[in-house]
Amino acid sequence: MTIIVAKPGEVQFPKGMEGVIARETTKGYVDGQKGKLYYHGIPIEEIAEHSTYEEVFFLLMYDKLPTKDELSILEMRMRQYREIPDAVYDFIKSRAGGYNVHPMSILRTAVSMLAPFDDASEEQAAAEREAIKITSRMATITAAIGRVRRGLEPIHPRYELSHAANFLYMYLGEDQDDFMNRLMDVLLILHADHGCNASTFATLVVISTLADMYSAIVGGISALKGPLHGGANERAMAMLDEIGSEKDAEPWILNAIAKKKKIMGFGHRVYKAYDPRARILHSYAEEITKRAGTERWLNIASTIERVMIAKLGAKGIFPNVDFYSGTVMSSMGIERRLFTPIFATGRVAGWAAHAVEQLKDNRIYRPRFIYVGPVDASYTPIDER
Ligand code: CMC
Repeated sequence: MTIIVAKPGEVQFPKGMEGVIARETTKGYVDGQKGKLYYHGIPIEEIAEHSTYEEVFFLLMYDKLPTKDELSILEMRMRQYREIPDAVYDFIKSRAGGYNVHPMSILRTAVSMLAPFDDASEEQAAAEREAIKITSRMATITAAIGRVRRGLEPIHPRYELSHAANFLYMYLGEDQDDFMNRLMDVLLILHADHGCNASTFATLVVISTLADMYSAIVGGISALKGPLHGGANERAMAMLDEIGSEKDAEPWILNAIAKKKKIMGFGHRVYKAYDPRARILHSYAEEITKRAGTERWLNIASTIERVMIAKLGAKGIFPNVDFYSGTVMSSMGIERRLFTPIFATGRVAGWAAHAVEQLKDNRIYRPRFIYVGPVDASYTPIDER
C-alpha cells in the first residue's frame, strides 16, 4: 500500500522524479553513462553529419527515415504552414522590443495566439497536422521576435528555402552561405529531442489530459524557459562575457566552484559523461569563431571546460549542450536572449512527436504527493485565529 501521509523526510522517494519511468517511447534515448544520444536508434553524430531538421522531424514523428517522396511532402507541408496571422505579428511588434520581457514569454504567448486562428486547433484527430503547423510556425515567430528586439521589422518567410535557411533569412535579413545554413540545421537537429526532459514531460502531462496540441506545446515552452533547463545557454554565454578574457577564466571558475555555484552549461540529470551534443558543437565552434573573429569566447570556454572537468569530472559533471551553443550562436550573429527560443524552435519536433505518441495509448498522468502536513486539524473561525 502506498504511504500518503508521513512525517517530513520519513518516506524516501526520488526527488525530481529521478529515475521514474514515465512511459515507453520509440523516439529516442540517452545513454548517460556512455555519453550517447540516439534518435530512433541512430547515433546523433550520424544524424548531425547527414540529416536535415525536416528529416529528423519525420524520423521522430513516424519512427523511420523518410523516402525522397515522403520527405518532400513533409517539407512542402512545413513550407505551406510558415506564415503566421497578422495579429501575431502585431502582438510581437507591440511587445517584443523595448520592454523588459523575456523573448520566451513572447514566444509562449505567440504560440498560444495561433490556436484561435486555427479552425482545427481543438480537434484530437488533427493532432499530427497541428504538430506540423506549430513546428513550422515557431521558426517564423522566433525570427520575428529577434527582429523586433533589434528595432527591425519582421521579415515574412520564403517558400523555397529549407527550414533552417529560412529561419536565418528571416532573422538576419539576408541569405546565408552553405556553412551558416548547415550550422543552423545542426543546431536545430541537436536540440530536437532528448528523452524525458522537463519540457517534454510537461508537454506530455498537458496532452495526457486530452487538451489540444497548442496547449501541450505551450506547456513545453513554459518548462523550457527556466535556467535549469533551456535557459542555461543564455546564462552560460553571460558567464563568458562576465569573465571577459582567457587569463581570468581559471581564477573565476575556481572561485565559483569554491563558492559551490552552479556553473551554467555543465551537469546533467542523465549524462554522467560528456554530452555528445556539446562535442559536436565544440567542433563547429572552432570553425565559426575563426570566421567571426570570436576565438576569445572559445578560448574562455575551453579553459572553463578544462578546469571544470579536472575539479568536478569525477562527479560526472561535464559540459552539456548549452555550454557551446551560446558561443556558436553568438558567433553567428544571434543575440543571447534568443538562444532559448531557438532551443524551443528545435525541441518542438520532440515535444510534438512525443505528444502524438502519447495520444496513441493515452493514460492521464496523475502521480501522488506524500502528505507531511498536520492531520486531524479542525477549522478555526477567522476571529479566533
Ligand atoms: N556546476 C557545479 N556543480 C554542479 C552542477 C553545475 N552545473 N550541476 C550539478 N552540480 C553538482 C551539484 O551541486 C550537486 O553536488 P552535491 O551532490 O555535492 O550537492 C551534484 O552535482 C548533483 O546536482 P543536482 O543539481 O542535484 O543534479 P540534478 O540532476 O538535479 O540537476 C541540472 C541537473 C542540469 C539541473 C544541474 O546539473 C544544473 O543545474 N546545471 C546547470 C544548468 C544547466 O546547464 N542546465 C542545462 C541542462 S542541459 C539542457 C537540458 O537538457 O535541459
